[in-house]
Amino acid sequence: METLKINIKDALLGITEADVKALDNVANEALVKLHEGTGAGNDFLGWVNLPSSITDEFLAELQQCADSLRANCDYVVAIGIGGSYLGSKAVIEALSDSFSAYIDNKSTKILFAGQNIGEDYLYELQNFLADKRFGIISISKSGTTTEPAIAFRMLKEQLEKQVGKKAAAERIVAITDARKGALRQLATEEGYKTFVIDDNVGGRFSVLTPVGLLPIAVAGFDIKALVAGAVEMEKATREEGENNPAYVYAEIRNALYRAGKKIEILVNYNPKLHYFGEWWKQLYGESEGKDLKGIFPAAVDNSTDLHSMGQWIQDGERTIFETVISVLNQQHTSVIPSDEANLDGLNYIAGRRVDEVNKMAELGTRIAHMDGGVPNILITLPALTERYLGQMIYFFEKGCGISGYILDVNPFNQPGVEDYKRNMFALLEKPGYEKETEAIKARLS
Ligand code: PA5
Repeated sequence: METLKINIKDALLGITEADVKALDNVANEALVKLHEGTGAGNDFLGWVNLPSSITDEFLAELQQCADSLRANCDYVVAIGIGGSYLGSKAVIEALSDSFSAYIDNKSTKILFAGQNIGEDYLYELQNFLADKRFGIISISKSGTTTEPAIAFRMLKEQLEKQVGKKAAAERIVAITDARKGALRQLATEEGYKTFVIDDNVGGRFSVLTPVGLLPIAVAGFDIKALVAGAVEMEKATREEGENNPAYVYAEIRNALYRAGKKIEILVNYNPKLHYFGEWWKQLYGESEGKDLKGIFPAAVDNSTDLHSMGQWIQDGERTIFETVISVLNQQHTSVIPSDEANLDGLNYIAGRRVDEVNKMAELGTRIAHMDGGVPNILITLPALTERYLGQMIYFFEKGCGISGYILDVNPFNQPGVEDYKRNMFALLEKPGYEKETEAIKARLS
């Protein structure tokens, strides 16, 4: 079976196999905690057996909803932030033609909103949608997050003005908690089609729920294959030891962290994986950065960033390690042409594929970085397809759960995210925040 693979032989720089083996006990315990629900945050383990619990009937219901949005809308705005946004954005970007935004092929396109509070962004989005057939997927687990709530209020009003309240309600889908939150209440009152985010799946682990699956299906991609890939990885990551790629990943990154490698850089050599890096940063940053601990997750897109971050990675402070995602096969073939004048001196690679050059850039960089003291974890993915992306999503989720427990934090909460919200609400004088408003104003005067 073709599958995602991990190779850590080049990561044994400054650490030995014995240092990695020394984590076996705690890694085994971490796996048991995940499977038996005996660790911190155990009320958020719904993602662990999620792929294999998704039924064909449920996927068909999602597909039917996606098909109806596709039939009635040229654009669908997926509104959400953090875990309610990054998973679908990552998968859609990875699978889409790089120029799909400019291709007029009548296929429904997904746009995103609610992932920022940029006034110009929202103005320009509304301006763009003014004469378009559009629909909305409003995604918020809590149903109360400010950024998506603002975007939803504005776009809902616009849609209702453009097509009337009744037709608007038929083009709006809400994905939220089964009972709680403003979005649930609104959806009930307005009669929107809804999907539930289960209580036991946290936002950043929710890409394989309707949160990720519905926008991905609307964008025209095969959610059945995505889930099938995740099921394969769920099976491959059940047992402890070296045959479990997520276990191997979690162990090696913690061994490196304990040896002073405090920063992990996720590296891709395919521009379509930029948002996968963003999704991964949220998954690991929010899960592990707590109790004054945690590997700092960074990401680069190579070879682009070899011309910006390359210098730092090669020669900067030696506190980093890299995890390289190498995509083995491309979807298309492009060959470098021969040129009689050869003024650019490129005839030595004429007739060779662009991907061959890219692979040599990748290999050359990995060797240079190892020579520079940067341990390298290598993840190989057969191709950028739904199935392999499904494998990679679950691989990183499982790796994150194991790793968080090895680090001895609760990987499933995010108490630090509340602090900015409290200050923002105080500054905006939100009812209920009178004391905080007074305190923050005193600080600023
Ligand atoms: O991982 C998380 O829990 C967060 O990033 C949330 O996904 C994010 O804050 C959005 O929350 P909500 O879906 O409740 O609007």
